[in-house]
This record gives sequence, C-alpha cells and structure tokens, in this order.
Amino acid sequence: VRRLVLDTDVAMGAPGSDIDDGFAIALAVADPALRLELVTTVDGNTDVDSATALAVELLHRLGHGEVPVVRGAAGPLADPWRPRERAADVLERFGHRRPVPGRAAEALVRHITASPGEITLVAIGPLTNVATAMLLEPRIARDVREIVVMGGYFTGHQGNVRVPGEFNIWADPEAARIVLRSGARLRFVGLDVTYQVRMSRDQAARLASHGGDFGRFAGECGLAWIETLRHRYPGSATRDSFHLHDPLAVAAVTHPELIGWRRAHVAVATDGVARGITVADLLGTRDAPEPNCEIADTVDVPAFLDLFLRRVGAL
Ligand code: BDR
Ligand code: CA
Repeated sequence: VRRLVLDTDVAMGAPGSDIDDGFAIALAVADPALRLELVTTVDGNTDVDSATALAVELLHRLGHGEVPVVRGAAGPLADPWRPRERAADVLERFGHRRPVPGRAAEALVRHITASPGEITLVAIGPLTNVATAMLLEPRIARDVREIVVMGGYFTGHQGNVRVPGEFNIWADPEAARIVLRSGARLRFVGLDVTYQVRMSRDQAARLASHGGDFGRFAGECGLAWIETLRHRYPGSATRDSFHLHDPLAVAAVTHPELIGWRRAHVAVATDGVARGITVADLLGTRDAPEPNCEIADTVDVPAFLDLFLRRVGAL
C-alpha cells in the first residue's frame, strides 16, 4: 500500500466551487492501493480557510474523518499576506469542524522525515506549502518517495491563465521553482494532458443516480458544477462536461501505465509576461540541462475514466 499525503487548494461541497480536488480526495480514499495519511491545504482556487473547512467536511462525508487536515499557506511565497476574501458562506456552513492545529509545511516535514522513502506527496494546488517545507527542511527532497504535481503546461499552445500558463504554477511560480530545483523525484501531470480527461453530464448523472452514498453526492456536485460552467463560459466547447485535472495526478500514483511519461528538464519563469510559465526541454539538445522530472505526455482516457468512475461510483 502506498502511503499518501495530499496538498490541496479546494474541495467539493460549496455551491459554485471547483470540484476536481474533491474528486481527487475521493479517488485517494477509494483506491485500496493507497493509504491517505494527511491532507494539507493551501490558498489557490479558494482561500485557505475555505479549502480547509471543505477538506475536513469532505473527509467526514467519505467516512475518513480520522485523516488529519492541516491548514497551510494563505498566499504565495512572494506575497504571503495578500488580503483575500474568505468565502463566508462556506465557513458558516462547514467551519464548525476543526482542522488539526499546526502549519501545513511543518506537518509535511514531520510526516515525510519520519518515514524516509515511504511517503508519496500529491500536490494539486499551488506549491507554496511544499516549497515552504523544503525551505524549512531541505532533507525532505531526499526523504520523500516522490512528488506528483498537477501543474504546468508542457506540450501544447494554450493554458488557463495566460498562454501557455497553468493555474497551480502561475499562482506561485517561486514555489514551483524551489520544488523543481529541489532534487526530489518529481512527476508533473500538466494541463495539456488533464484537459483530455473530462466527466460528461451523462456520466455525472449516472453517478448521481447509481452511485453509493458518496457517489450520488459527488454526481450531484458534478451536475451543479457543469451548470455553473455553462453560465460562466457560455460558448465553451466543453460546457457539458468538466475536467478531472487533479484526480489524474492521484491515478498517476497507482496506475502510472495509464499515462505516457517523458523525462525532461523543466524550468519556470518568474519574470514579466512569462511569469508562471513552465518550459520543458523536450528536444534533448546536447547542452540541455539534466532532466529534473518526468512529465505526462499522453493519457489513456477511456481506461482512466473507467477506473475513476468505478472507484468513485462504489463509494
Ligand atoms: C488546476 O487548477 C484548478 O482548476 C484545478 O483544481 C487544478 O488543480 C488546473 O489548472
Ligand atoms: Ca486543485
């Protein structure tokens, strides 16, 4: 069984909030090959307090209230005190359950150094907590079994923040740079690949009507999210579905064969208009720096969806 820590920026359960982090948490507890031991939260798609409350609530709903949730960074490394509105409705509804006291970065250091070579860290939000942990204790780069990151955009020509940027890296490029230079064993599942994996309205409806208790709830959340997207991006070609970015990073741990991997040197820009953009050296030129990670290149979409829907549907 692989021992897992998840670092996340939002979970499902609040109306109108992004939900793929929640599906990633669900997949992590649904897979018998994984043991989820710790969840840490970070500012990203939502503020860190809301992400914390939602993660605690979701784990209870999944019947895994024993998994500790530790609150992390409230803003990126370069601007840690960035004022950010907290989602008052989320905190009012879910804030009654308390996370475990402490700071995420310290919890990551403690958990990883206590079991060298054992812990797999899956990071599905900005990398602020992971980088802070590395600054506190550089040894974790050696002690962690591997870090799988949902982040970056490597092989295509689009992005979701600027061309060709991806949110998790763009939100804290300094943190991403620290992680990329850490020497840890790294795998990146980028947006160009996760864009290919989507749950359709029909699949969400099927989950909502045929799933177990949690599967039905998750299916309803999926249908509501599709409605939100339809209003937010009326002309979008993918409006009858939503992306499963983060769950693919969890599947990469247990089912690496679903994804094609390439070793590459990846760097992240932190300046000017290129800020937050990842560049993978894929040409293998002779003076290219040594690869520092593996990046996802292709994905077997039907096989992933089959695995995902089976596992989450059974919850
Ligand atoms: C990333 O940002 C969020 O939309 C998703 O949860 C994912 O982690 C994709 O850019
Ligand atoms: Ca996320």
